[in-house]
Amino acid sequence: MKPQTLLITTLTLAFVGTWFSQAQTSTKPTTKEIMKEKLDYAHFLLNGIATENFDLIANNAEKLNQLSLSTVWREGRTPEYEALSADFRRHAVALTKAAKDRNLDAASLAYVQMTLSCVNCHKYMRNSKMAELH
Ligand code: HEC
Repeated sequence: MKPQTLLITTLTLAFVGTWFSQAQTSTKPTTKEIMKEKLDYAHFLLNGIATENFDLIANNAEKLNQLSLSTVWREGRTPEYEALSADFRRHAVALTKAAKDRNLDAASLAYVQMTLSCVNCHKYMRNSKMAELH
């Protein structure tokens, strides 16, 4: 094999390898990516509540609900984690319903409760990680 051919072959393989690993990560998002997405939807939700845009609220609450059903988010979790996740979904569903009913007060309350359930789950995660270290 000529040196040039070897070089081209190596570069092509490296390129395909990079492309392949990127393609793989994009089909299976990590928990971190999902959480980033969640943060974006939660942002849009607050935007919707502040401007009384019920479609924006309903859309993003629904996306959050779907996201929390994603297998990556729920992989290998404890019953406590599942309960916290179910709690979160209950508030997201209440939020969607409030938006469909065009009830801003109910939507605001569900938004606050949902946000608290974000905090609760993260608190639980931190505590269980600390417990693992001991
Ligand atoms: C049922 C559990 C649960 C709920 C509810 C939850 N999260 Fe998370 N969140 C996690 C876990 C688990 C991680 C840690 C991911 C990791 O380190 O692998 C995390 C991490 C994050 C992070 C940090 C990501 C990073 O950069 O490391 C953000 C931001 C986040 N969540 C946003 C939210 C928001 C916003 C909500 C509510 C709308 C929410 N989460 C609700 C489980 C939850």
